[in-house]
Amino acid sequence: MTSIWLVALASVAIIFLVKEFIKRRKLPPGPIRLPLIGNLHMFGENLHQDLYKIAKKHGPIMTIYFGLIPTIVASSPYAAQQFLKDHDQIFASRPYHAACYYIFYKQRNLIMGKYGPYWRHMRKLCTLQLLNNVKINSFQSMRKQEVQILVNFLIKAASNRDVVDLSAKLASLSANMACLMVIGKKYNNVDGDFKDMIQQTSHMAATPNLAELFPFLRFIDFQGSVLRMKQIAESCDEFLENVIDEHTRQYSSDQSKTSIDMVDTLMEIMQSGEAEFEFDRRHVKAILLDLLVASMDTSSTSIEWILSELLKHPNVMKKLQSELDNVFDQKGIVEEKDLKNLDYLNMVIKEGFRLHPVAPLLLPHESIEDCTLDGFQMPKGSRVLVNVWAIGRDPDVWREPEKFIPERFVESTIDVRGQNFQLLPFGSGRRSCPGLQLGLTIVHLVVAQLVHSFDWELPNGMMPNDINMTEKFGLVTARALPLMAIPIYRLHNK
Ligand code: HEM
Repeated sequence: MTSIWLVALASVAIIFLVKEFIKRRKLPPGPIRLPLIGNLHMFGENLHQDLYKIAKKHGPIMTIYFGLIPTIVASSPYAAQQFLKDHDQIFASRPYHAACYYIFYKQRNLIMGKYGPYWRHMRKLCTLQLLNNVKINSFQSMRKQEVQILVNFLIKAASNRDVVDLSAKLASLSANMACLMVIGKKYNNVDGDFKDMIQQTSHMAATPNLAELFPFLRFIDFQGSVLRMKQIAESCDEFLENVIDEHTRQYSSDQSKTSIDMVDTLMEIMQSGEAEFEFDRRHVKAILLDLLVASMDTSSTSIEWILSELLKHPNVMKKLQSELDNVFDQKGIVEEKDLKNLDYLNMVIKEGFRLHPVAPLLLPHESIEDCTLDGFQMPKGSRVLVNVWAIGRDPDVWREPEKFIPERFVESTIDVRGQNFQLLPFGSGRRSCPGLQLGLTIVHLVVAQLVHSFDWELPNGMMPNDINMTEKFGLVTARALPLMAIPIYRLHNK
C-alpha cells in the first residue's frame, strides 16, 4: 500500500517538475543558479549594482532566480520599452508581497494593488482628485512657508558657521510637506509612534520575506515576521482611524474650514457616494498610507543626490547660481511660477535623476497573462524588474555615463516624464508615478532655493572629490552617509 502512495507521489512530483521545466524553457538567459537559493549568492548590499554587472554578461533581458522565483530583469532602453510600453498592459500588475499584504489592506492600495478594475478606479481617483495640477497648486503657499522655515534655519546656521546635516534637514522638510498635504498636520507634531510606524512600513515593504523567495514556506512564520507585520498593520490602522475621526469631528464642528487636505477630499468622495466603485473607510486608509509612504522620502532623497552632485561640481553650482540670479534677482525667494523658465536647473535635475534614480529598479511588475516578447516566452505571473539605474549608465546611450554633465541635455528633447526610455526615474506607462508633477515641483523648488540663497562649503577641509557617494539600497535608495555642509548666506549684498 505504502509503495503505491510513494509511486503516486513521485509521479505528481515528476509531472510538476516537467511542467515547470516546459514553462521556463523559453525564459531569457541568465547566470547559472544554485539549488534552492537560485542566484541569491550573487548579491551584496546594492542589488541594482549587482544586477547591472550581471546584465553586462547575460544581456539586457535576463532571468535571475531569487530563491525559487524567476524574475526577468530589463536593463536597456529597448528592453524597458518592451515591458513598459509595447506590452504595458500585460506587465501592469504587482506580485504578492507579504508586508504589503498585511499592512496595505490585503494589497488593496494603489502602489502594490493587483492590476484590474479596482486598481484602475483607485488610480483614476488619485490622479484626478488628489494629484491634479489644481490640487498641487492649492498647497503652493504651504510649500513656500516650509521652505522659508528651512532657509531661516540655514541663515542662522550660516551666521554661526555650523555644519548642517542636510540629509536630515531635507528629510524633515519633505515629511512635513507630505504630512501637511495629506493629513493637515506637521510630521514634527504627530506622535513618535507614527514616525516609527512609517519608517518600519517602508523598511518592511523593501525587504523580501522568506515566503516570497520560497513560496512553500508561505504558511510558516519562521522569523516571527508575519507577527511583526500584523503588529505594524494594527498600529497603522489605529493611527489612520484616529486621523479620519479627527477630521470628521472638525468638519462637523466647522463646516467653513478653508484648508482642504487630502483626508478631507477623500472623506467628501466617500460621503457623497460618487465614487464609481466600492469606496469606504478601508479604501480611504489604504490611499492615505500610500500617499504618505510614496511622498515622504522620494523627493528629499532626489534633492539630496542632486545637491551632492552640485557640491562635487562647483563649476555647475556657479553656473546654476548665475541662472537663478538672473531670474530671481534681489528677491531671494524662489517662486514656483518662475521655475519653468530655468533651463539649466532643468538640465541639472535631469542629470541628477539619470545618475541617481531613487527607485533604481522601479517597483516590481508582474504579468497577468502568458506573453512572448523578443522571442522569449514568459508565463503568466512572471516578475519583472526594470533597472533604470543601469539604463542611466548605458554607454550605448550616454557618452561618458559615469560623469555628471548637465550640458548633455542642451538641445536634447529627452525628458523624465516616461516618454524617453533612456531616462525613467518615474517609470513609464500604466504603473508610472502619478505623483510625478508634485515630486518634480518640490525637487525644482528646493534645489533652486538652496542654491540661490547659499554657497556651500564642505566641513573639515574636505575637497569636492572627497564626497562619499556610496548608495544604500532600499525602497528608496539614498546616500549611505549623510550629506554634511556649511551654508554661507550669499544674498547679503544683493
Ligand atoms: C521625486 C519624487 C518621486 C519619484 C522619483 C517617484 C518615483 C516613482 C517610481 C519609480 C514609481 C514606480 C513606477 C513603476 O513601478 O513602474 C512610483 C510609483 C508611485 N508613486 Fe512616485 N515618485 C515620486 C514622488 C511621488 C509622490 C510625491 C507621490 C504622491 C504623493 C507618489 C506616488 C506614487 C504612487 C501612488 C505610485 C504607485 C503607482 C502605481 O503602482 O500605480 N510618488 N513613483
